[in-house]
Amino acid sequence: MSFQVALAFEDGVTRFIKCGPYETVADASYKARINIPLDCRDGACGTCKSLCESGSYDGGDYIDEALTDEEAEAGYCLPCQMTPESDLVLQIPTTSDVAKTAAATYSGTITAIARFSENTIGFTLEIPNRNELVFLPGQYVNIQVPGTTQTRSYSFSTGPYTRELSFLVKITAGGLMSEYLRGRAAVGDTLEFTGPFGSFFLRERKRPAVLLAGGTGLAPLLSILAKMETEDSDLPVHLIYGVTFDHDLVELDKLAAFRDSLQNFSYQYCVSDAASNAPNKGYVMSLFTPEMFNGGDVDIYLCGPPPMVEAVRQQFLSDGLEPTNFFFEKFSSAAAGAASGAAA
Ligand code: FES
Repeated sequence: MSFQVALAFEDGVTRFIKCGPYETVADASYKARINIPLDCRDGACGTCKSLCESGSYDGGDYIDEALTDEEAEAGYCLPCQMTPESDLVLQIPTTSDVAKTAAATYSGTITAIARFSENTIGFTLEIPNRNELVFLPGQYVNIQVPGTTQTRSYSFSTGPYTRELSFLVKITAGGLMSEYLRGRAAVGDTLEFTGPFGSFFLRERKRPAVLLAGGTGLAPLLSILAKMETEDSDLPVHLIYGVTFDHDLVELDKLAAFRDSLQNFSYQYCVSDAASNAPNKGYVMSLFTPEMFNGGDVDIYLCGPPPMVEAVRQQFLSDGLEPTNFFFEKFSSAAAGAASGAAA
């Protein structure tokens, strides 16, 4: 039996390799022609030391100078010695360029366009080699805007095992992808994208989770929920989705479906516009309750615009809340790119 190992590089590129039984991660990387940092290959130097974000493994033999007990306890590992016992996600302490690898490029066909409102458009792609595309729920790809050399970053809103690949786009006046989607895009168009990228992805579930979405920041959280749906866990998950105007609310039917299919899942949404007809008016913080955060023993996943990330962080500070994990992705509507981060 082989396991899938995600190698997440410092520049946001993630490559996936297959690791056979009793095969070390370093050997599997070598076979895949990915040069992760290595020196002694014997558990003595510590050059390959990486952080295991998720999964279980046999750490192999090594000396304390290479990896201390405290480091091993904190999740650090030695790819030259470790053999996976489940799928793994490893943070590799170098860039993809240094490791002589790069994100892959795919070409897909638009199979559906959902013009939800003047502010939000969703679209779905199919790619012929779907089995070659592996991503972690929450990650994004860079999509080339047709007719240009520019790319824009969008997170998958579908889960990692779904054949179709869907995305949500916030429409901005003059935005290259916005103008394409609003005007010229049609079913049957070809789109090219590169990826996956990003450190904002679902970690192994060990505690309750709170998911916070701002606008189209809902997309990666839908992907995360889709992955959770495939897992056998009854840990509580609560999602709060905040938007500016009523017409910005999208995919509520999907959230309702997750409430029926995903154990212990609940959600709320709110609209900040004072003229809204929504049951909850205000920002996501207005719906926070102490119970939601389980005394701080909680994993928080937030995707939204930079002011929202800062506002939530400030709210946690003033509430004295120190969540076990706080993963966030800030997106900017105008520029390509998304900034992921994590605070523990
Ligand atoms: Fe020296 Fe792994 S390469 S400990």
